[in-house]
Amino acid sequence: MGIGVRVRGPLSGEAAGEALRLAVVALVTWYRREGRALPWRSDPAPYRVWVSEVMLQQTQVATVRPYFDRFLCRFPTVTALAAASEDAVLQVWQGLGYYTRARALHAASRRLVAERGGELPRTVAELRRLPGIGPYTAGAIASIAFGAREPVVDGNVARVLTRWFALGGDPRRQPLQAQIWSIAERLVGHEDPGDVNQALMELGAILCTPRSPVCAACPIAAHCHAHRLRAEVRYPELAPRPRPQALTMAAGVAWRSGRVLVVRAPEGSRWWSGLWHFPVSEVAERERPVAVAAAAVGRALGRDVPDGAPMMRLCHAVTRYRIELLVFSLRLEKKEGARRCREGCAWRRPAELEGLAMPAPHRRVARAIGLAPPAERGGSCAHPRRRLRISGA
Ligand code: ADE
Repeated sequence: MGIGVRVRGPLSGEAAGEALRLAVVALVTWYRREGRALPWRSDPAPYRVWVSEVMLQQTQVATVRPYFDRFLCRFPTVTALAAASEDAVLQVWQGLGYYTRARALHAASRRLVAERGGELPRTVAELRRLPGIGPYTAGAIASIAFGAREPVVDGNVARVLTRWFALGGDPRRQPLQAQIWSIAERLVGHEDPGDVNQALMELGAILCTPRSPVCAACPIAAHCHAHRLRAEVRYPELAPRPRPQALTMAAGVAWRSGRVLVVRAPEGSRWWSGLWHFPVSEVAERERPVAVAAAAVGRALGRDVPDGAPMMRLCHAVTRYRIELLVFSLRLEKKEGARRCREGCAWRRPAELEGLAMPAPHRRVARAIGLAPPAERGGSCAHPRRRLRISGA
C-alpha cells in the first residue's frame, strides 16, 4: 500500500492474498444469497444501472425504489428520456431532491443519442465525460452493467473496509481515502466486479451499519480486524461534520379567483433552479416574515400587495441547511392585476399544481392547499383549517 496509514489486514504475501480471496468469495456468496432483490439488480441493463446509480447518489434504496419504477415506466430507454422535455423529467423526479442530478441525466441522454446512438460507454474514463457522472457512479456503471474491474467506494463501502482492515483516520480525507480505493481495487479482482461492489454496499447497508453492526450474521466476521479487536464501532473515524446552517424563509400563497400564484426559479439560481414554487425569500435578522412573504409575492406581480395571514410552518433539511419555511396566505382582490404576471409566474388552480415540478417543501404546501383552499369571499384570508401562530409574524 505504502500510503502511510497502518493496515492490520492481510494485504501482502501469498497466504495473505489467498485469505483475501476467500473473504471476497464468502462476501459475494452471501450477497448472492441474501442481497435484496432490487429492480436494477434483477435486470442490470446499462440504462437501468445508470438511472439507479444517479438516484442512489445521496439517497437511500428504500426512497429510490418507487421513483426508479416510475422513471423507468415513463422513460424506458435512453432515447425516450432524451425525447422528453426537462419539465417532464423534473416532474417525475420531484420529491427525490438534488434536482441537478435529473437535469444532468437528461442532458447526458441527449448527448448519448446525438453522439452514440443512445448507447452508454463502457469505460470509466468515457462515462466520466458525461454530465452528472463522477468517479463513484462511473465505477458502479462500468462494473455492474459491463463487468469492468472497477472499484466503487461510497460511505457504506468505506465503513466496511475501515472495519475489515481496522483502518484509522477519516475515510473522506487523504491519505485514507486513496488507500481505501486501492483496497477496493484489489477486491474487485477476485470475483465478478459488479457483485463484489454491490456486496460491499449491501453489507454496509444491512449488516455493517454505523452504530449497531450485526457481526453475528456477517459473512466476513472471521476476517474482520475491528471485530477481532471488539472495536467495530470505533471505525470509521469520521471527523464531525459542521453543524447545519439554520435558515428561515417566508413564502406567500397568493390567491385570486380560485387560483394561486407560482413562480419558476430561473436556471442556475441558488435554490430550486428550474422548479416551480410559491414566491419565497430568505428572512434576514430583524425582518418580519409576513412582510418578506408579501414582498416576494409583490416582486412576482410587479406591485405591492398587502400582508397575508399565517398558514403553516415547515422544516426541511437540504444539503447543509436546515430550513424553516413560514408560509402566509394572501387573498388578492380580483381587480388586482388580473391573471397576468411577470415572466416565469403563473396562476394555477390547486389541482393543477400536481402537474408542476416542485421542490419537496413547496409540494407539501401545495398539497395542504389542495385539502382546503380558502374561501373566495369572506373576511379572513388565512387558511381556515391550518391557521397557525407564527412567532414574529
Ligand atoms: N447504493 C449505490 N449503488 C447501489 C446499488 N447498486 N445497490 C444498493 N445500494 C446502492
